[in-house]
Amino acid sequence: MNNLVTVSRLSKRFGEIQAVRDLDFTVSQGEVLGFLGPNGAGKSTTMKMITGFLDPDTGDVEVAGHRLSRHPVRAKQSIGYLPEGSPLYGDMSTLAFLHFIGSMRGLSGDTLRQRVDEVIDRVNLESVVYQDLETLSKGFKRRVGIAQAIIHDPPVLILDEPTDGLDPNQKHEVRELIRAMAPTKAIILSTHILEEVEAVCSRAMIIAAGSVVADSTPAELAARAAGDGAWIVEPVDPASVDRLRASLEAAPWVRQADAIDIGAGAVRVIADGDADAPSKLRGHLDEGRIVIAQLYRERARLDDVFRDITGGAGAIS
Ligand SMILES: Nc1ncnc2c1ncn2[C@@H]1O[C@H](COP(=O)(O)OP(=O)(O)OP(=O)(O)O)[C@@H](O)[C@H]1O
Ligand SMILES: [Mg+2]
Repeated sequence: MNNLVTVSRLSKRFGEIQAVRDLDFTVSQGEVLGFLGPNGAGKSTTMKMITGFLDPDTGDVEVAGHRLSRHPVRAKQSIGYLPEGSPLYGDMSTLAFLHFIGSMRGLSGDTLRQRVDEVIDRVNLESVVYQDLETLSKGFKRRVGIAQAIIHDPPVLILDEPTDGLDPNQKHEVRELIRAMAPTKAIILSTHILEEVEAVCSRAMIIAAGSVVADSTPAELAARAAGDGAWIVEPVDPASVDRLRASLEAAPWVRQADAIDIGAGAVRVIADGDADAPSKLRGHLDEGRIVIAQLYRERARLDDVFRDITGGAGAIS
């Protein structure tokens, strides 16, 4: 595979805090690497060093064959970066800003206009092209941030929490966009959402206290989050939670049924036999004429997965 990012022994200390310690990894074309980890784990600091925004104390980064320490301009030309938050120029319109960033990236004339039009279309910014950036909603600011990151069509994308602040539809659109770009690029993104890793990443890396504590597939990570095998049943009518619980508790193959406070109210069920539990649950509820809105496997919270993997150390914030 074509190696596009190589991180070697990367470290960064801020006073007493070792924010990143001795990171080593590579990312190839076609890979979407998800950084996960508790607040303060060192995800953003690592991204800032890969993009050349922050000098490492030790170590180096190679981007598309260019060593950042030796050829910083060439390395940075190969990267599109969406920083955390929205550090945009507030008094520029979306259109002016994208033209400005595009020209900073060396585009001009028809190519510049064409690329600006293309990213406006890909990130759905048509409705805000003439609006000043400071007046945009959080989600639109984030989308402008994504547009400026991809304007020069770089082989490497570093996206710090790309869907933070977006509504569910926008989250879906941005994930689709990332998936569509993935085959020709190496992408590193950070997120606090396990579903996002499953939806877009080919690889998941958990960082805690500046070190990599797990490097696996999203499926392996999701399996760790499977919890103790409980199912969550949400009835359509919240008033039927008690009846649902009592009915399930009476079933001989149900070991435990508890009312829990999720959504408009739900029942958490631990049943015998794992593979056929959903069909048994559905059959039982059909018989009792209880209409359910959702039936799904309970997930451990991502925080609990971090704690499990790091033996407690991951909970540092
Ligand atoms: N400029 C700085 N000066 C001092 N400390 C810093 C600086 N930048 C980051 N840190 C510290 O380095 C550690 C790692 O921070 P970083 O922003 O990389 O975490 P993160 O994994 O991105 O967290 P989050 O999930 O909250 O975004 C934290 O303890 C943070 O307070
Ligand atoms: Mg961060």
